[in-house]
Amino acid sequence: MKAVCILGSPKPKGNTAAILDEIERPLKEHGIDVIRYCFGECKINYCLGCKSCFGGDGQCIQNDDVQKIMNDLLNSNLIIAASPSYWGDVTGQMKVFIDRCTPYCNVRHTDSFSKLKTKGVAVAVRAGKNKKENENLVDTIEHFLGHLNIPLISNFTVEGVDTAEDLKNKPEILRMAYEFGKSIIPLMEGQNEVL
Ligand SMILES: Cc1cc2nc3c(=O)[nH]c(=O)nc-3n(C[C@H](O)[C@H](O)[C@H](O)COP(=O)(O)O)c2cc1C
Repeated sequence: MKAVCILGSPKPKGNTAAILDEIERPLKEHGIDVIRYCFGECKINYCLGCKSCFGGDGQCIQNDDVQKIMNDLLNSNLIIAASPSYWGDVTGQMKVFIDRCTPYCNVRHTDSFSKLKTKGVAVAVRAGKNKKENENLVDTIEHFLGHLNIPLISNFTVEGVDTAEDLKNKPEILRMAYEFGKSIIPLMEGQNEVL
């Protein structure tokens, strides 16, 4: 079993990463392979809007880290998409990655993702206290996964965390993240192997 985490934060050691560490921990303890891509450390160019992927072989003309990330996503049993809130939605880094998934969008010709049995999980982290804004991030991620024919099976949102100090002062958040990770395992295991 393989889980691929895509982290939209530019910070590989930020709050979202620390929360993701705890979500991943029970998966690893259970023997699940976990791969993480922090988009702040990846080379992901903007979509050029050229629409080359709409025709021909359906491939993107750009050559960067997207192909490798996609290959892992295509061969996963679970995708965890995590992002801090930036201006009430996912980060620009996450949005640029979503744009680059257009070759795999189910309104186009490719059926790469429709053959998959993978499932999706959304994680959203924000400074403000209101959960509603984080629901925007979950909606964005659900919309993205939906166009890859991947169902969103669960989500975990964290409110009121802006600085590393905030997270340190609220150890219950990391405990809840660990429990959330545990809760995903049976949902993952209730699926067929990747085709
Ligand atoms: C450019 C920028 C925009 C942000 N916009 C919001 C926002 O709209 N709402 C909010 O609650 N927090 C916002 N934040 C705060 C982050 O969501 C918060 O600090 C989060 O914990 C950062 O996670 P990270 O350390 O994983 O990057 C913003 C932070 C930055 C840097």
